[in-house]
This record gives sequence, C-alpha cells and structure tokens, in this order.
Amino acid sequence: MDKPSESPSGPVLNLSRRRLLKGAATAGSAAVAGTLAPAAAGAAGDPAITEIQDWNRYLGDGVDARPYGSPSQHEAHVIRRNVPWLTADPVSSVNFTPLHKLDGIITPNGLCFERHHGGIAEIDPAAHRLMINGLVERPLVFAMEDIKRFPRYNHVYFLECAANSGMEWRGAQLNGCQFTHGMVHNVMYTGVKLGDILNEAGLKPSAKWLLPEGADASAMTRSVPLEKALDDCLVAFCMNGEALRPEQGYPLRLVVPGWEGNMWIKWLRRIEVGDQPWHHREETSKYTDLLADGSARRFTWTMDVKSVITNPSPQAPLDHGRGQTVLTGLAWSGHGRISRVDVSVDGGRNWQTARLDGPSYSKSVHRFYHDFEWNGSELFLQSRAIDEFGNVQPTKNALRKARGENSIYHNNGIQTWHIGEDGSAENVEIS
Ligand code: MTE
Ligand code: CO
Repeated sequence: MDKPSESPSGPVLNLSRRRLLKGAATAGSAAVAGTLAPAAAGAAGDPAITEIQDWNRYLGDGVDARPYGSPSQHEAHVIRRNVPWLTADPVSSVNFTPLHKLDGIITPNGLCFERHHGGIAEIDPAAHRLMINGLVERPLVFAMEDIKRFPRYNHVYFLECAANSGMEWRGAQLNGCQFTHGMVHNVMYTGVKLGDILNEAGLKPSAKWLLPEGADASAMTRSVPLEKALDDCLVAFCMNGEALRPEQGYPLRLVVPGWEGNMWIKWLRRIEVGDQPWHHREETSKYTDLLADGSARRFTWTMDVKSVITNPSPQAPLDHGRGQTVLTGLAWSGHGRISRVDVSVDGGRNWQTARLDGPSYSKSVHRFYHDFEWNGSELFLQSRAIDEFGNVQPTKNALRKARGENSIYHNNGIQTWHIGEDGSAENVEIS
C-alpha cells in the first residue's frame, strides 16, 4: 500500500506539487449509515481463516535468536527517510520520522529523525568528559559515572528542528507528513538537572549565558540563557529507558524543553559560562528568521503551537472505502500542554473538537483522534491546535503576512491534505 507514496516529491524541486485550490468544495462528512469494510465482517472461504498457516504449524525461533529485538519483517518499510535533493551530502543532513506509521505519543528510538551537521560521532563513554568552565568558582570535568551520581529525573519532551516544515513556506511541496512534519520526535529522557551540575561548579554572580558544545566533527555550539538552563534543562543519558542512541548524542545530550532542536546539543562535552551570548554561526547566519524587509528575527527559541494530521495523509491514503474512519494526528507546543485540537474536513469552514487521548505532558506531543463516517466525497483535512496558554495555531497565510516567505524556520501553519473520492491524499493549500 505504501509503494507509490513513500518517497517525497522527487529528485528535483517539484513545484507541480504546489497545488492551490480555490475555496474548498463543501466536503462531505455527513453521517452515512456506517459499517466497517466487508473484509472486517469476514468473507466466506477466506484462506486466512480456513488454511493452517506456517506460523501455526511449525515451531518459532527460540529466545536465543533475537538478543536485541527488532520490528517484524512486515514493518521493514517503516523507516526514517531523507529527501535526497535537500542537502548536498548525507553527512551534514537530515532524515525524517515516519509519523504516518506511528501511534500513541512516544517515538521509538530507531525511528527518531536525525539531524547532524558533521555526521554521527561514535564515542567511547569511558573516554567522554563534560567540562564546565568560564564564569564559575570551580571549573570541573565530569566522567560519565560522575554525572550519574546526581539525582535523576524522567520527562517526556518533544524535540522539533526549527526547520521542520521549512520547505513549505512558499507553498505545498513535499508529499507526506513524514517530510513536511517529520523533524520532530517525542522521547522520555532520563538525566540530571543542568542546574545541579552548574551549582556544583558554583556560578559567579556575573554568569548569564551558557555555551554548550558538542564533541562531534561540527563541534556544535549555541548560546543558552542561564534562566532557561536553571528552569528545566536536563543533561540526559537515556532515551525511552535505554542509553541514548549514537544518532541522538550518545553518551550525553542537552535537553532544552520546548525550544528549537538546534539548541539540544548532542555528544555534549563542554559548557562555558559567560555574561553575554556568543553570536556564533548557528545563531547568526543560521537559525534566524529572515523577514520580508530583509531584517532577521533572532533568538526565536520557543517552538510555537502546532499540529498535523498523520492519518490519512499522502503516504497513508484512505484505502478502506467509505464508512467508519479514524483520523489521527499529533499536536505540540513549546509553551506547555495542548488543551484542545480542532479538526476540519472542509478546508477550515467548519471545525469540530477532536478527542485527545493518551498522557498529557507539558512540552510533549499529544495524540488526537477524530472518529467519523466518510461518505466517499472529497475532503480538505486540517487540524488546529490550542495550548494551555490560549496560543492558537495560525494559518500559513497569516504566518506569511506577518513574516513574509523568506524564512526556513518556525513554520507552524495549519496543514491541508486533500482527500480525493478514491481516497488518495495530497499536500495542498487553499487560497
Ligand atoms: N548537536 C551536535 N553536537 N551536532 C549537531 O549536528 N544538530 C542539532 C541538534 N544538536 C546537532 C546537535 C539540530 S539542528 C537538531 S534539530 C537536533 O540536534 C536533532 O536531534 P536528533 O538528531 O536527535 O533528532
Ligand atoms: Co535542527
């Protein structure tokens, strides 16, 4: 089922994807006497029922066959994917979380999108150190076992790259939520409070900013205000209960809840304490938002309220025919919890409140569902998230009006999927 739609728009910038649809047709979701598809009702002579299958006839693998488990071979297509034309090489590049194949709120470790500026550092934890220097009473160097002696905490947080949905500023382009929205993952981190480590070193009164640095070939650095560091930042060594994956910064990464992914320094090896920001590359030429008048918004750290429908979506069409249908998606806000998600099936003319389900944590993704009867007519699906502080996800046009179209970063506009009468789904915009 995935075959025709698992790849993004193609090897070159494909502007034919960019479909603007004038005023959405009155898309139908009117209740039809709904039943489940015939297959679910059981067809006479179905070999899945009448035949004894091999897995029923023969013994399976023993407990020594899979010392570290992996998904069923039938799930082999559920993988991170990249967009080859997006970056010049695969080392300083990005791949995307297959959001359309996931449910619940936790992203499995092997499917968390990756963004590396200098490839994956393969670090021997015994040779890894974290150094604290600068405006501190006692510059310190920690080995991994020293870090693990601070009190530990567990928190579920989303990480979203500031460039998520960045290719969509000038119109609908990439055909699948994996590619338009897949630079986000949601993980339970185990770690220690950054504040506890800083206190051990003793902050000088003039301390105001931190410069965390990565041990990878990009030696990534970002200026982080001390207030945020002392509020909720973690130095994490576990994700979803096991050691961080090398892709995610093994053995140590900075967790900066609700703030743009670029600040979550992976392979964390040093934190310099200073009294002002450093204005390094990643906060001047990159990760700033170029406005229509040529000026740039800087230090736009918080990831604003956002949502996307993950099913149906271009890689996951409505293939079961008319009748009972589950629409689902994700919503998140860097400010806190999600309090409501609205869903429209007619391009934003009418809205209904979706059902939030699963744990609701601050600065974590939330799962929503909208259960409805599809009568087989075309739909224009949209979702709109609202967070606990009343922030409402804007339309893409409202964002463009405020910020122009030059930016790559911080696009949290409302996404539209067009569903055809055949159930196929496409990335579109309604003008
Ligand atoms: N840290 C280091 N040391 N090197 C990097 O290339 N990439 C940053 C950030 N931290 C990066 C880094 C960017 S831009 C993002 S979006 C996140 O890590 C991506 O985290 P992930 O690979 O776990 O998805
Ligand atoms: Co990023």
